[in-house]
Amino acid sequence: MCGIVGYIGHRDPLEIVISGLHRLEYRGYDSAGVAYLPDGAQQIEVIRAVGKIKDLERAVQQKAPVPGIHHVGIGHTRWATHGAPTELNAHPHRSNNGKFAIVHNGIIENYSEIKRRLTEKGYVFSSETDSEVVAHLLEELYEGDFRAAVVRMLEHLQGAYGLCIMCSDHPDMLIAARKGSPIVVGVGSGETIIASDVSAIVNYTNRVIYLKDGDIVTATTSEVDITECNSMPVSRETSEIEWDVEQIEKGGFDHFMLKEIHEQPEAIANAIRGRMILEDGMSVLSGMQMDAFDMARVDRMIIAACGTSYYAGMTGQYFFEEFAGLPTGVEQAAEFRYRNPVIQRDSCMLAISQSGETADTLAAVREAKRKGTRVLGICNVVGSTIARETGAGVYLHAGPEISVASTKAFTCQVAVLALLALGFARTRRMSMEEGRHIVEGLQQLPDLVRRVLETAETIREVAERYASYENFFFIGRGYMYPAALEGALKLKEVSYIHAEGYHAAELKHGPIALLGEQVPVVALAPDTPGKGKTQGNMQECLARKSPVIALATEGDEEIRTHCTDVLFIPKCPEFIATVPVVVVEQLLAYYIARARGCPIDQPRNLAKSVTVE
Ligand code: AGP
Repeated sequence: MCGIVGYIGHRDPLEIVISGLHRLEYRGYDSAGVAYLPDGAQQIEVIRAVGKIKDLERAVQQKAPVPGIHHVGIGHTRWATHGAPTELNAHPHRSNNGKFAIVHNGIIENYSEIKRRLTEKGYVFSSETDSEVVAHLLEELYEGDFRAAVVRMLEHLQGAYGLCIMCSDHPDMLIAARKGSPIVVGVGSGETIIASDVSAIVNYTNRVIYLKDGDIVTATTSEVDITECNSMPVSRETSEIEWDVEQIEKGGFDHFMLKEIHEQPEAIANAIRGRMILEDGMSVLSGMQMDAFDMARVDRMIIAACGTSYYAGMTGQYFFEEFAGLPTGVEQAAEFRYRNPVIQRDSCMLAISQSGETADTLAAVREAKRKGTRVLGICNVVGSTIARETGAGVYLHAGPEISVASTKAFTCQVAVLALLALGFARTRRMSMEEGRHIVEGLQQLPDLVRRVLETAETIREVAERYASYENFFFIGRGYMYPAALEGALKLKEVSYIHAEGYHAAELKHGPIALLGEQVPVVALAPDTPGKGKTQGNMQECLARKSPVIALATEGDEEIRTHCTDVLFIPKCPEFIATVPVVVVEQLLAYYIARARGCPIDQPRNLAKSVTVE
């Protein structure tokens, strides 16, 4: 997610915009930029820099914008989705005639066709981004009325946007529009600040208006008009912000981990948006640079990753083998390089890494490339080392993940792996109808996660009852086995409790010796084929006096005879049950850690990206 700030008023716009960008830096920080209008100028000036906001500030000071009273400015701090983090890809983007500058948060799904049409008409593009099409569309559609040009431009866009736009012909006006990406309007006295969240506004006013999807706001120094995209005026409530700034950067949540857990519906929606065709039962992943011919010839999939990404990879293994019948192995990335792996001629490696910088995973990529293997990357950070060195793959579009404990990246990795497996499966025996079933299942994910998040209070109550234990087991079968491993890791990381993930059937081969009333067992037993056997394992645990917390499917009342406590997930197809189950585990770990007073976002001894072997 990127950070957007726009200002119009009596103060120096660049000062307000840059200060606001500092507040938004947690949203993404690979590059940044500002646009302003020197007094009397016909062309908008843009200053951009790769890196953090302080790098942009230095560039602005070096350029020393022409003094004088210029009323309007916009700025942006980028979390790259399309195009590497470079100065040319940084926002704001400007039209060729310099009359328009725009900043954008979101994904324009149909940008390629718009870019192709405008290029044919002679417009010159300078970036690889999807966002730049907005600036050139405005130039094409502008006939003197700024707002009318914006309305017409929006009609061309498909996808998600939070936009803030300025026009040199109208230095007393700032326009913003929202669809799928948040835009907040700060109403000051004689000034208006527009931003992607309130943390950029709260220093100047506590009166804000939250735009709704489809809203367009036209702001001058004296008034704020809001209409719907059909130009019908609408009145939106002005509310008062009561948070302090520190709270606001976390969106009102106490920790980034909780914020990112709650971002998962939007993050998963972004991860699958524009990547499925229901009627064909197909996935569409343009970044892979593999067509059906190439995919049909892969005879083995090798997944390499670490930590949480490794557990996502284990889930992906089930997808590739169940959907596509494609032999798939999952490798601890650190082990892969040193064990001289056997790689067939038509193998394909999938390197999974949220940060795209994990040294062990990068080493596995390089070893696979030395052996002539095709390598794809599944990363969240655009332009990261693994993304660049694989040269092909799929970005998560999950937005920046600040908390050391990975949450939304995991669920987005699982969604993307299902999309990939669907693509390979449809070049094999999977029918269109079966493919549609997979697509329909994935389309349910954002809503499934929303429904789990609505049970957060129940999860917190159970978590607080178990917060004093020092040892846990997590058990599961099938898809629930990697989910058990991930749940144990989440709890370990943030609460410092010793937690082990185990295959439910394996417990009786030794670890059961550890059970007892001081060792609770989290048993993943949603409505999946292995549920009956897992219930038997739950009875074995109860017989050894271990408390059992069951994760089950709502409506399953019989499960209560096999456990001490139960937490429910909504009914869903087996292949996507991992996501709601792991969201429950994330909340369980979070609330146990909070009850124990742990630092949560920066656990001891850990780092967000392990760039050493
Ligand atoms: C996950 O909660 C941990 N922070 C850690 O296991 C992490 O998943 C692992 O270090 C891999 O990181 P990556 O996805 O950035 O490669």
